[in-house]
Amino acid sequence: MKGSGNNTKCLANLAAFVIFQVAVILILAFTVMRVRGPKVRLGVVTVDSFSTSNDASSPSFNMRLIAEVTVKNTNFGDFKYGNGTMSLAYNGTVVGDIAIVKGRAKARDTAKFNVTIDVTSDRLASTASLGTDMNSGVLTLRGDAKVKGKVKLLKVMKRKRSGVMDCSLSVNLATRAVTTKCK
Ligand SMILES: *[C@@H]1O[C@H](CO)[C@@H](O)[C@H](O)[C@H]1NC(C)=O
Ligand SMILES: *[C@@H]1O[C@H](CO)[C@@H](O)[C@H](O)[C@H]1NC(C)=O
Ligand SMILES: *[C@@H]1O[C@H](CO)[C@@H](O)[C@H](O)[C@H]1NC(C)=O
Repeated sequence: MKGSGNNTKCLANLAAFVIFQVAVILILAFTVMRVRGPKVRLGVVTVDSFSTSNDASSPSFNMRLIAEVTVKNTNFGDFKYGNGTMSLAYNGTVVGDIAIVKGRAKARDTAKFNVTIDVTSDRLASTASLGTDMNSGVLTLRGDAKVKGKVKLLKVMKRKRSGVMDCSLSVNLATRAVTTKCK
């Protein structure tokens, strides 16, 4: 009788230990090991040089923008990304693009860097409705970028992840202030 009582206690301890282990693994699986793609966004954008014409026959814009790009890594491991590209588009046509140089966002941190990007209406096939748009005083551009890389966890595990930028920039043509909105 005494022996079987010890066995029961031993089994109960073993069961409790197994349950504890499973709980720890589940908690790890849903927190530390859960690997998410980075969030790629635009920070402050400033206008460096600027020339526009809303001449009715040939409206145009030429601007050099300095844009802060942020790569937010919510994972518990570093995110290392390779070279990428970023582009700005007006009405679906790319009017400026630039290379994003490879880098790293540390664990649960945000990497920030500035890019200089020249945009020009010379790249538009048609400027038919550009004049009307510019007369409204605000030029809206779409910012696109893709960052691809790997999240490294517990020093050995690597998971491929990527993030895309989906932002809109509104350039106030009178004040040259730029407001950005990102998804
Ligand atoms: C990334 O870009 C830099 C600078 O443009 C270049 O020197 C390097 O070779 C590129 N690396 C890869 C892997 O393409
Ligand atoms: C980007 O440039 C702005 C000024 O145009 C500066 O305030 C900001 O600190 C820069 N950000 C980085 C990450 O260098
Ligand atoms: C956008 O481009 C299309 C052709 O791709 C053109 O028909 C339309 O008028 C343009 N809209 C603006 C606001 O420029």
